Amino acid sequence: MKGIILAGGSGTRLYPLTRVLSKQLIPVYDKPMIYYPLSVLMLAGIQDILIISTPRDLPQFQALFRDGSHLGLSISYAEQPAPEGLAQAFVIGKSFIGDDSVSLILGDNIFFGSGFSHVLQDCASLTEGGLIFGYPVKDPERYGVVEFDDNNKVVGIEEKPTVPKSKFAVPGLYFYDNNVINIAENIQPSPRGELEITDVNMEYLKHGKLQVQPLSRGFCWLDTGTHESLQQASSYVQAVQDRQGLKVACVEEIAYTLGYINSQQMESLAQDMLKNQYGQYLMDIVAENETGSAFS
Ligand code: DAU
Repeated sequence: MKGIILAGGSGTRLYPLTRVLSKQLIPVYDKPMIYYPLSVLMLAGIQDILIISTPRDLPQFQALFRDGSHLGLSISYAEQPAPEGLAQAFVIGKSFIGDDSVSLILGDNIFFGSGFSHVLQDCASLTEGGLIFGYPVKDPERYGVVEFDDNNKVVGIEEKPTVPKSKFAVPGLYFYDNNVINIAENIQPSPRGELEITDVNMEYLKHGKLQVQPLSRGFCWLDTGTHESLQQASSYVQAVQDRQGLKVACVEEIAYTLGYINSQQMESLAQDMLKNQYGQYLMDIVAENETGSAFS
C-alpha cells in the first residue's frame, strides 16, 4: 500500500502563524506537525509516501525529509497549486499510486491511542473497497459525518451537515483500493469548488464497499484548526510524553523500532540534536535496546 500526506491549503485560519510558513510545519510541542501523520503511515507499515503541498511550501518539506531514506522510507513530493479538495490528492498522485491501494492522511490530523498500530496494520491490508473511521465529537457539524448501524454497516455519510444524523465525525485518515483514482477523476467539484472526499466515500457506499471503523472513547484524535486547539494539542502531547517518558510520533524511534534503520543510523540522526531532550531521547532508545531493556 502507498501513502499520501496532503499538506497544502492556505492555513488562513491560523494567521499570522501561517502567513509565511506551512500550517503542517508549525510545532506541535517538540516536533513539526507533519511528524504526527507521517508516524501514522509508518505504523501502518507504509514505506512509500507522497507528500503533496503548495508550490510555496513544498521545498520546505523536501528540506525536512529529503528522499526519506534516513528513516527507511521512500518519500516523494508533488504540488497542489490550489486547494481544490482532498480528493484531488488521488488525481495528483495517480502515477505515484500506480496499481496499488492507497491511504490518505491529512497533514494536520493527530491520532494517538493504545492499540492503534494493530488497527492500522489491519487497515493497510485492505485490497477492496474503502475504509474510514468514525470518532465521536461534540460538534460533528464541522466535519464529514458518518452514520452506521449496530453491525458497523455504513448507512449514510454527509459533509458538514447542518443537522448531523450521528455524532461520529470522519477523521482525515482514509484507506482505499485502486478504484479511488477513477472515482476521484470522475466526481464533480462541490458548491465550495472542491473535489470532496465525502463524495468519494459516497461512491464507495453506493456500491456497498465502504467500511467504517469506530474509534473508541479513550482514543485521541486532535484538531489543530484554531490557535486554541493547536495549543491544546501541544499541551496534550507534552503531558503524555512527560508522564510516560515516551514520545508520541517520534518518526526516528518508529523507524528504529520497525528495523528500518540500525543503531548507528539512529545515533547519527541524533547527532545535531544532542543538546536537547529530543536527541538525548534517541540516544537513550539505542542504549536501552542494546542493553536489552527497550520495548519490553
Ligand atoms: O479533518 C477531517 C475533515 O477534513 C473531514 O471530516 C471532512 O470530511 C473533510 O472534508 C475535511 O474537512 P475540512 O473541509 O474542514 O478540511 P479543510 O479544508 O480544513 O482541509 C483539511 C486539511 O487539508 C487542511 O490542513 C488543508 C489541507 N488541504 C485542504 C484542501 C481543501 C489541502 O492540502 N488541499 C486541499 O485542497
